[in-house]
This record gives sequence, structure tokens and C-alpha cells, in this order.
Amino acid sequence: MDKAENTVDKKVYIETYGCQMNVNDSEVMLSILQDAGYTRTEDIGVADVILVNTCSIRDNAEQRIWGRLEQFRLQKKKRDNVIIGITGCMAERLKDRLLDSHIVDLVAGPDSYRTLPQMLEAASSGHPQINVLLSHEETYADITPVRMDRNGVSAFISIMRGCNNVCSYCVVPYTRGAERSRDPKTILKEAENLVAMGYKEVCLLGQNVDSYYWKDPETADNDMNFARLLESVAQISPDLRVRFSTSHPKDISDEVIYTMAMYDNICRHIHLPVQSGSNVMLEKMRRKYTREWYLERVKKIRSVIPDCGITTDVIAGFCGETEQDHRDTLSLMEAVGFDSAFMFQYSERPGTLAARKFADDIPDEVKTRRLNEIIALQNRLSLASNEKEIGRTHRVLVEGVSKRSPDELFGRASNNKVCVFPAEGHVTGEYVDVTVTSCTSATLISRLKR
Ligand code: 5AD
Ligand code: SF4
Repeated sequence: MDKAENTVDKKVYIETYGCQMNVNDSEVMLSILQDAGYTRTEDIGVADVILVNTCSIRDNAEQRIWGRLEQFRLQKKKRDNVIIGITGCMAERLKDRLLDSHIVDLVAGPDSYRTLPQMLEAASSGHPQINVLLSHEETYADITPVRMDRNGVSAFISIMRGCNNVCSYCVVPYTRGAERSRDPKTILKEAENLVAMGYKEVCLLGQNVDSYYWKDPETADNDMNFARLLESVAQISPDLRVRFSTSHPKDISDEVIYTMAMYDNICRHIHLPVQSGSNVMLEKMRRKYTREWYLERVKKIRSVIPDCGITTDVIAGFCGETEQDHRDTLSLMEAVGFDSAFMFQYSERPGTLAARKFADDIPDEVKTRRLNEIIALQNRLSLASNEKEIGRTHRVLVEGVSKRSPDELFGRASNNKVCVFPAEGHVTGEYVDVTVTSCTSATLISRLKR
């Protein structure tokens, strides 16, 4: 369609919650809306359309968004014609219940973003809109996300959508649907375009990148798995850093680990969520690996890539978790010595296998106490891991000016650790060699290498 004919001259404000995949989805939405004539605003007060891209992973994520919707109710009182849309996982989970709130005019699930322009048009004529159909094919492969990051250095590329691992606690397979991989040609094109635009780092995203698989419809011998995709992206340019997330302990292959070792520009970092150190819990969680298997994978990673950063996710207080199960988690964390971790209390999600089969029977105060013990241990492990870095040199990609001081920059080392150092004329987007002089549990304080 002719662009001019399609121009709606409206401003859209997008707020994003949840994972990196959601950040990238917001960029896909913005691309679709810009093509339909919308412009982005960062000022909610002038927006014609407010989109909230939501997360359902834990109840507190949803509660936060409900609180935000109450604030939007006030916006609507001031400006009756502003359209409020809920997109993403909460849209998919709660469907028309969101319309019942009378705050929301539009509900769009993660696979419906191509229909946003039409839905918004109908919603602005006073007809509430809902599209929560999940797809087996949609990967938005042909859409070039409009980057919303401010630094122009590091970008996300979704390589797949959905998830087929029905971990019993997890709502994602229900909100994001079945797993599908994206055509590698479109992934490589997107990465090449980012390089041409001056980007220095891409992060390949999927719920479980290790199960990426593309069967070439034309040739029988041209199939692509994750290791080969990673290699192809790394070969685009030695100046392009490649990261990826998330790896699944049951699926991460030796081929991926060896590919990482072969290319200097594939970052030495693996996010490998363990969830629990107890085999009883892992079984109930349907993680499909054991504590021993996990520890073996870590050993393999470290034998091939000794300096690899390994980070994880941990859930405290899953159904039926005993003190011994909890201690097993602590001892596994200690045995691995994770560089950092995201740590959560179990939150029952309606409709999941765990919600249907197991009682959410660990009292809140016990969950909190266990989580606090896990956090305290991880703080100690992070500090110990960072202390080992003192005196070492890292090549850092500068991502911006440090919050601590306008004279300091920050960026990540290959192993994903954040370094802060004096700018001394360097700027965002440069690679800089720094030497670590001291640390906290979260940051490597560094100076420029002389
Ligand atoms: N409760 C608590 N944490 C959860 N996660 C996923 N589902 C739940 C839940 N129901 C955590 C897992 C996952 C991370 C993204 O969120 O640790 O790896
Ligand atoms: Fe991302 Fe999962 Fe939250 Fe959906 S529910 S936004 S997939 S973290």
C-alpha cells in the first residue's frame, strides 16, 4: 500500500516489561506501526496510543502491570480518546478479562502484532479489539525491528519463538505457544544490517536456543542447528560480538561449546538456568536433567572454555521442597560457583502443570527465608568470582557513561561482567582494554590498560 495513503499521523508510546524477548517484540511492534504511519513518543502525555507489552512469568510481574493500568485510567480520564492496548504474555493469558477492566481498548497476544494497525483503527472507532490467536509459523522473520535502545551498540535478534519444554512451573508455553525457528537467512541479513548501522554486538534470543533447528525447504543437506547458526553470525565480522540466551542444560551440545571456543568474537558467557539442585525437584519441575548431568555440563564448558562466565536462574520454594532439597540447591550453587544469578520465589501460575498437579505448599515466610539464603550465598559467590578478576585484563565493549560519574564509562567483558573505568577520551561503541583493580559483587572497577 502507498505509504502516504496509509499515514495515520498518531503517536505511540510503548512500555515494556519482562524478558529480552519482550524488548525485541516491542521493537517489532514499533516497526509494524511505523510502517502504518505511527511515530514513537517517549512522552506518555502526548501519546494517542499507549501500548503495554506485558509479562506473566510470576504473579508479582502481573500485579505491577495492574498497578500501572490504574495510572492509565487517570490518563484516560484526562484524555478520553487515548487508546490503551495490552500486548504480550498477559494479553495471551488473561484474554478478554483484560477488556472487562474498562481501561483497556485492545488486547493483542505475541503472535498477533501484524494486525495491530487494523486493530488500533477499529479500537479508535470505539470497538474494543482482541486477537490472541497463537501461530505455529509466525516468526516476524521479514520485519526489521526498530531499535529502541539508546546506545546503538548492542541489539537483540530473535532467532525463534515459543517453547516446547513444558517445565511444570512455567506459563511461557501457554503465553507464547509452540516453538518455531526463524529462517537463518533472515537472521544473518538482520545481523549484517546491524553491522552496517554500526552495531557492535548482537544477542541471539530464544526460550531455548539449543533447540533452534531450520530445515531448508529447498536442499536436503543445508539444515541449520544452533551451533552452525552461531558460527555463521560470528563469521559476519570479527568486530561483531555475539551473545546468546537462553541455553537449556538438557540440550546444550558439545558442538555449541566447541564453536564458542573457536571464535574470539563469541562471548564467553552461558546463561544456564538450573532452577534447583535437588533431583526430586528437577523431576517435579520436568526439567529433564539431573543435578549430576548439570554438573557434568558445567565441567565440560570449563574444560573447553576455562574463562567462561556461567550464570543461572534459581527458584526457591517449589511445591513440596524440603529443607534437604533447598540445601541441595545451595550446595550445587557452591559447587559451580556461579558468576551471577537471577533468583526467585516460586509463584504458582494458573493453568500450568504444577498448578494442576501439585500443592503450592511452602509457606511464604519459608520461601522468603530460603530465597534470602540463596541470595546471600550468590552475593558471596559473585564477590569471590569478581575478586579472582583483580589484575586481569579484559576487552570491554563500551555501552555508555557510568551512573556513578560522568567521567567514567561502563561496558561488559566477554564473560558478561560489567566493568567501570575512567573515560579518558574513549566513547560508547569502542572496544577498550581494561585492567581490573578492585571489585564489588556486581562490578569490576577497572583502569585503562597501559
Ligand atoms: N515462579 C518463579 N519463577 C519462575 N520462573 C519461571 N516460572 C516461574 C514461576 N512460576 C523463573 C525461572 C526462569 C526465569 C525466566 O523465571 O527461573 O528460568
Ligand atoms: Fe518473557 Fe516469559 Fe515474561 Fe512472557 S512470561 S514476557 S516470555 S519472561
